[in-house]
Amino acid sequence: MARVLVIDDDPVVLNVIADILKANGYEALTAPDGESGIKELESNSYDLVITDLMMTDVGGMEVLEHVLANSPETICIILTGYGTIKSSVKAIKKGAFDYITKPVTAPRLLVSVEKALKFRSLEKENIRLKKELRRKYRYDNFIGTSEPIKKIYDLIEKVADTDGTILISGATGTGKELIARAIHYNSSRNDKPMVVINCGAIPEELLESELFGHEKGAFTGAHKVRIGRFEMANSGTIFLDEVAEMTPALQVKLLRVLQERKFERVGGTKSIHVDIRIIAATNKNLTIAINNGTFREDLYYRLNVIPIKVPSLKQRKSDIKLLVDFFLKKLQRGKKQRIKGFSPAAMDAMLMYDWPGNVRELENLVKRIIILCDNQVAGFDDLPEHLQQNSVLIQPVEEDLLERGGTFSGAVKNFEKRLILEALEKSDGVKTKAAKLLNIKRTTLVEKIKKQNMADAVSA
Ligand SMILES: Nc1ncnc2c1ncn2[C@@H]1O[C@H](COP(=O)(O)OP(=O)(O)OP(=O)(O)O)[C@@H](O)[C@H]1O
Ligand SMILES: [Mg+2]
Repeated sequence: MARVLVIDDDPVVLNVIADILKANGYEALTAPDGESGIKELESNSYDLVITDLMMTDVGGMEVLEHVLANSPETICIILTGYGTIKSSVKAIKKGAFDYITKPVTAPRLLVSVEKALKFRSLEKENIRLKKELRRKYRYDNFIGTSEPIKKIYDLIEKVADTDGTILISGATGTGKELIARAIHYNSSRNDKPMVVINCGAIPEELLESELFGHEKGAFTGAHKVRIGRFEMANSGTIFLDEVAEMTPALQVKLLRVLQERKFERVGGTKSIHVDIRIIAATNKNLTIAINNGTFREDLYYRLNVIPIKVPSLKQRKSDIKLLVDFFLKKLQRGKKQRIKGFSPAAMDAMLMYDWPGNVRELENLVKRIIILCDNQVAGFDDLPEHLQQNSVLIQPVEEDLLERGGTFSGAVKNFEKRLILEALEKSDGVKTKAAKLLNIKRTTLVEKIKKQNMADAVSA
């Protein structure tokens, strides 16, 4: 049963409305003035508030403001006498759902109440869907099934809903920011902002006011109060990216915020308290930075409460195929899926490559292929040269094997791999055709592919 609070300083109106509501199956409670109405709202929760606009002392507008600030899930309907239409419109603009002019009739009241409650349940549904979306964020965007990635999933799950400070380290393009977002979206702070600060990118002279805000008149040009990023992140998460790039001056300031969770705006004296979750990321080795004297040791210990080390793509090559498929879909979403995949030889070359730019480099490669490749299946020739170089396909046949001290079986294995890849390339990856070209049975080919550990490159 929906709970409604009716507030009016006219007892006759109050009773009329409460009676209509009760007669129609609502739970209706009453408050004889604005002040006691607000008190009631503070101690009990309501689905709907119907409040008179003009009341002595505390008016309907204040009731509305209280509701908006303290229980945004509660809907407000305003009652107004003649001559106060203008203020009712103002109330609607502020966030009231509807207004009803007096004298109140049962049909008018019930229509408005029904609509309001329907709206509320839709809004609740909307919030539920948004939550679901946030959950999806993690599963849909952060790709990987390799062991080190599974460990990171587990870690995210464990730490997301704590307030522990996190330090994410890993090479460029490994997905540090993605992990930070996954943590934020899986925490109870997920309806509050995650504010990103790129510590290396803010010019020194702007830094303080950017981070902590400033008061009006704090310096020339400070015409009005400015809210800094730490204040913006209140109740949410702050992501300190490239934390190793911080200047010594900023490191000192940050240390204090980390210790006390408070700061002052530039030109202000009042301390501002913030409730924030801190996540930092770096692609540098902070231990070396500490030894070099460029990073404060005390700050490091404050940040490194929960360390997350992100593996490079080279350390989790088994995820490459999955990532390629993911990026092909993601980057062609809403368009015709022109490029369907990569040929076995192209995949094999990608598996042999070291990916110094990690997942970002892989994503960029897929982007490039989508733009430049004319075929549905991107072949070995479509790859940039530096990727081709790792393939057996363009390595010279090991004729000088004996001089170079290579092994016989190694050379034979390489040669066999090369023949298989060439045949698959010529037959568009169709194994029956490739087997025919090689003049072997299909089952023999499948066996050899397995033996060569090429399953990641050749789809079943
Ligand atoms: N596991 C993953 N699944 C899907 N996409 C990923 C994954 N890891 C990274 N990416 C993608 O790679 C790109 C780089 O990721 P991100 O910005 O998180 O890396 P980073 O570690 O912060 O890099 P940098 O140190 O250069 O800032 C992004 O486009 C991101 O979406
Ligand atoms: Mg980053």
